[in-house]
Parts: sequence; C-alpha cells; structure tokens
Amino acid sequence: MKRIAVLTSGGDAPGMNAAIRAVVRTGLHQGWEVFGVRRGYAGLIAGNFISLDARDVGGIVQQGGTILGSARSPEFQTEEGRMKALRELRQRDIGGLVVIGGDGSQAGAHALSQMGLAVVGVSSTIDNDLYGSEITIGVDTALNIALEAIDRLKVTAASLQRAFLVEVMGRDCGYLALMAGIAGGAEAVVIPEMETDPEVVARGLRAAYDRGQAHAIVVVAEGARYNAEGLVRYFREHHERLGFDLRATTLGHVQRGGSPGAFDRLLATRLGAAATEHLARGEHGLLVGLLKGEIGATPLVEVVVGKKPLDARLLHLAEVLTK
Ligand code: F6P
Repeated sequence: MKRIAVLTSGGDAPGMNAAIRAVVRTGLHQGWEVFGVRRGYAGLIAGNFISLDARDVGGIVQQGGTILGSARSPEFQTEEGRMKALRELRQRDIGGLVVIGGDGSQAGAHALSQMGLAVVGVSSTIDNDLYGSEITIGVDTALNIALEAIDRLKVTAASLQRAFLVEVMGRDCGYLALMAGIAGGAEAVVIPEMETDPEVVARGLRAAYDRGQAHAIVVVAEGARYNAEGLVRYFREHHERLGFDLRATTLGHVQRGGSPGAFDRLLATRLGAAATEHLARGEHGLLVGLLKGEIGATPLVEVVVGKKPLDARLLHLAEVLTK
C-alpha cells in the first residue's frame, strides 16, 4: 500500500483534528501519500480529495471541529453510493481508509470493509455510545463544557432561589447527562435509558430547598421522554400544585464546538496513530478505541451489532448522590 485516505463523518467532536494530524503524520512516516476526504462519505462519493502533507496538519491539534468537514450522507446508505465511493478510491490507487466518527460512520466503514477495502475506524462521538471504546474522542471536552454551564447556572440559581434544568446532547444515550449530573452535583438526572416520573424530579428539586440549598438543578438528555420541552411543560401545567417553575437551558451544539482538552487531544492522537499502524501491519476491518484503559481494536463486524449500556454502578452512584 502506498496511499491512504482519512475522513471525518457524522457529528463533529473536539479532538477530530488531532486524530487527522496523527493519521497524516504516522502515514507519512510509513512513506505513504496521505489524502484527506472533504465532507465525509458525501465527499468520498463526489471524489472530493485533497493531498495532505505534514505542514497541512500543523497548528490544528488545538482546534475543535474538523478541518476536513463532515456530513451525514443519505447517498452512502445505498449500495450504488458505496460502489461509487469505492470507485473514487480505486481510481486514485488509494488502498486504505481511516474513518473517524461514531456508530453511523463505523457502520459505513464496515460496509466498505465488506466490499474489500482496507478500513480502520477511529472511535469519535461526544455521545460515548459506540461499542468498542470505553470513551470516545470528544466526550471529555463536551462534558467539561456542560459542567461549566452547570456551575454558572448554579450561581444565578442561588441568587434567586430558582430551579434549573440543563439539557445536554444524547439522542439515544444518557452518558453525558449522567456524568454531568454526577460531576455537576445535580439533584436529578433524566436519561433515555430509564423511565422517569416528573413527580420524582419535582420532589428532588423541592427537597433541595427544604434542606436549605439555594439552588436545585436537574440534568436531562435530549433524547429522554421528559427532556427540556417535556419537563418544562409538565412543570408549567402543574405549577400551582408544585409551587415553582423550572427555567431551562438547552446546551445543544455548544457542547460540540469546544477546543479539545488534554484528554481528547491525547486520546485522538493515540487512536489516529494506532489506526494507521494497523493498516501498516495489514490489519483492517477494525475499530480502534480505549479498552481497559489501553489502546485496543475491535472487529467492525462486532462494533456494528454491539451495544454499550450505561454502567449500572454509575447509575447507582447518581441515585445515591443526587440528594
Ligand atoms: O451524534 C452526536 C450528536 O451530537 C447527538 O448527541 C445529537 O443528537 C446529534 O449529534 C445532533 O446531530 P446534528 O448535528 O446533525 O443536528
């Protein structure tokens, strides 16, 4: 193999650039030519490639987002789209591909791998819902952004004795909400994985004031049945009986836009380098991630069917601490 390509796909995550930089420089170290694909799988289908040398990836390790751009590509979901993508790679004599992204992106990587391409995935999503990595690129930075918001909201909440709700990202997975709730000292956590009774949330917030606390915070995941919209509506409808309002702050994409912290820069760098080294050893059809604290690899065929449930011990910890 003389040429490889790298792309970022799906929701961007702080640290993706550090991973791109590591892939490019480790690839050059192998004596290969390295190409970047602009705008994920959409760019692969459109033949949107750029040649990358060591200096092209200089000064990006501290930048959030992705210098290559990303996309969610419906065309790549089709057999025809994937065939087109493969043709674009073959035409350029590119024999290996590194895919930096979350579960949808790694499903795409698996599909290309099944078609005979040497593909290695790099675990990257702020949701931390990808099987094959204990923690994925971007989670730590996103969590710190959520914590900064929670700390600030506590200040204003304490001034006026108000109850606040903070909605964090997580369509199907409550990891960010759970960890932000534990580390942010919230009174309640609401996640998609568990049915929550809004009355229990209200009781938790009320109890905080009754024991003399100046603020009360509930952290909810966007994908929970009672997310910001649902809980605020419930509190409004039952305002007289509950006796207080809930002010809501939805962090949304703010969590994705940060500059990566030390943890994410290092994780992304190590994973990007490991992906390229796997390709160099002729090992592919894999996802690189953090396994028992070490860099490890999991076959993509397992990744696409695997589920990563929330750690029951953390759920229990949240229950004990949110009082
Ligand atoms: O997959 C990461 C994620 O940030 C989810 O938490 C969120 O639901 C989704 O992406 C938002 O996607 P988009 O940026 O396409 O609106």
